Amino acid sequence: DKGQHRHFMAKEIHEQPGVVARALGAWISDDRSRITCAAETIDWRAVPRLTLIACGTAFYAAHVAKIWMERVARLPVEIEIASEFRYREPPLPEGGVTLLVSQSGETADTLAALRHAKACGQTTIGLVNVTSSTIAREADMILPLLAGPEIGVASTKAFTAMVLGLQALSVMVARQRGAIDAAREQALVDLLSTAPRLLAETLALEPQFEALAHEIAQAEDAIFLGRGLMYPLALEGALKLKEITYMHAEGYAAGEIKHGPIALVDDTTPIIALAPHDALHDKLASNLREVIGRQGRVALIGDAEAIRDLKGEVWRSVVMPAVDPLIAPLIYAVAVQFIAYHAAVAKGTDVDQPRNLAKSVTVE
Ligand code: M6R
Repeated sequence: DKGQHRHFMAKEIHEQPGVVARALGAWISDDRSRITCAAETIDWRAVPRLTLIACGTAFYAAHVAKIWMERVARLPVEIEIASEFRYREPPLPEGGVTLLVSQSGETADTLAALRHAKACGQTTIGLVNVTSSTIAREADMILPLLAGPEIGVASTKAFTAMVLGLQALSVMVARQRGAIDAAREQALVDLLSTAPRLLAETLALEPQFEALAHEIAQAEDAIFLGRGLMYPLALEGALKLKEITYMHAEGYAAGEIKHGPIALVDDTTPIIALAPHDALHDKLASNLREVIGRQGRVALIGDAEAIRDLKGEVWRSVVMPAVDPLIAPLIYAVAVQFIAYHAAVAKGTDVDQPRNLAKSVTVE
């Protein structure tokens, strides 16, 4: 049932504050001071490395998690797409943990990676939405996403639930490894607890994203840029746009465009920059000025402070809530989802059942 929405994707985008609130309820202790979950039984001080494996959107959630886990828990993390990991036969460290991220829990590549990791003696964790799935059954332990059924082929609420779950896991691992003290853990729990409200505030920006998406839909190609935690969001934005509008889109780390992709810049291709005001802002601004100097049409998605100094130079801008950069991936996910969704509606494509795609990919 789509309720009042035209498409399941729209419904699922709008469900995100509730999904994240429910997931937080499961991750946060009753006294709201700490993160608690099944993976606490692992001695994370003895874990030399965490390997995160997934496909598609789930892989981009893993990419966000790598940055969190390394920054907050100081744990080395490898991320890899499942279809490459399995057949590369990488050496896995003794005592290592491999975490498989999958909405469906049935993705064949991810399942093959799980079996390989198990055969190599890794402790395996499945972060899955469908808890009756094969990955859930075969992993040593599961962390449920609690996102509820996701019907739209383009993953939305599962992505935010994955990011939130992996952020929470990072906090628990950080505590066990002594990387944070109780006060810092409380601060991070409080920060994650702001997510439902911030997601709701971002949902209220839908008309601005709809107007921007209508303009983007006129173009042949689009480029998404971001740095740090916004780099995986740029990749996710490009994937989402490709999947449901069939437009050609690329996502790049903003610092990388000068190494080649800047040759693509002209006055017709929208460059969507994901730019919360963070430590990398000045660097990003200089990357964007290089693009603007070559007639690039920059759509700047950022908070008021990030937009202020570029306002007169960019093609379009949308003002996002000002947030701690650590939590920005959750709300910028909504921004890229809205852009893809409304561009697809403008183009008249089949949003929930895009051509050539299935909800879960059960072949390798
Ligand atoms: O069910 P999974 O999370 O394992 O699926 C992985 C990918 O197939 C999936 O995220 C795909 O990329 C989505 N259609 C993206 O919107």
